[in-house]
Amino acid sequence: MNLYYEEKGKGSLLLLIHGFPFDHRMWDDLRELLSETFRVVTPDLRGMGKSPLQESQNVVTMAELADDLAELLDRLGVGKCTFCGLSMGGYVGWEFWQRHSGYLEKLIFCDTNAAADTPEGAAQRYATAQRVESEKSVAFLADGMAGKLLAPRTLTEKPWVVERYRRMVEENSPQGVAAVARGMAQRHDFRSKLREVACPTLVLTGDSDVLSPPADMLALAESLPDGRFVEIPHAGHLTPMENPHAVAEAIRHFMQ
Ligand code: MLT
Repeated sequence: MNLYYEEKGKGSLLLLIHGFPFDHRMWDDLRELLSETFRVVTPDLRGMGKSPLQESQNVVTMAELADDLAELLDRLGVGKCTFCGLSMGGYVGWEFWQRHSGYLEKLIFCDTNAAADTPEGAAQRYATAQRVESEKSVAFLADGMAGKLLAPRTLTEKPWVVERYRRMVEENSPQGVAAVARGMAQRHDFRSKLREVACPTLVLTGDSDVLSPPADMLALAESLPDGRFVEIPHAGHLTPMENPHAVAEAIRHFMQ
């Protein structure tokens, strides 16, 4: 799979993986801020942004998304990287760790978790996939999710972030969003494997993230052999868009 990606900077490779239903643009500020020190690569996962689905594919698993990224690293001629995934990007991160740990120097998990969906959560994903396909539009997701994904302060004080958020969601292809939603419903539970994650791992989340609350993310960091935790102020679930400078600072500190 030839993934679309953007890159900037020189140095050790930092792979920034977006969440659902977004694309590489959620990392635009971080790519600028961190490219002074690192080679920053921001792909679009299969089915999202400018990376197409394979023909007639209606489910994309987290494992397939992880394999696509290993293939991208080979294409770039890179043997080692730091993998940073936000939310669904984190689900892909656990699979990447399991399937391709030889590439990993360090791991960063933003606003995510290590669990599988509950049966109710999975049923909701399948319903979402069906609705996106029948409406041939992702617009209802943008409206329904804004209040959960963005901090109240972002919604009232940063209209440009809300606008970028909406554009990214709405520009995604309904087929891609549906396939990836089904893939998330089928994802594995990694909680029993956390003690095996040997590489240094940073866990960060927004102080106002209601989907990945700070207490849960702290517990995740504490379950890892070499985990550390940073809480990002004035941010909900989309930390790199809501408070890019604080996220860049946390990553820079961790990497050095
Ligand atoms: C994301 O931001 O990637 C989503 O919140 C992930 C999810 O729906 O579980």
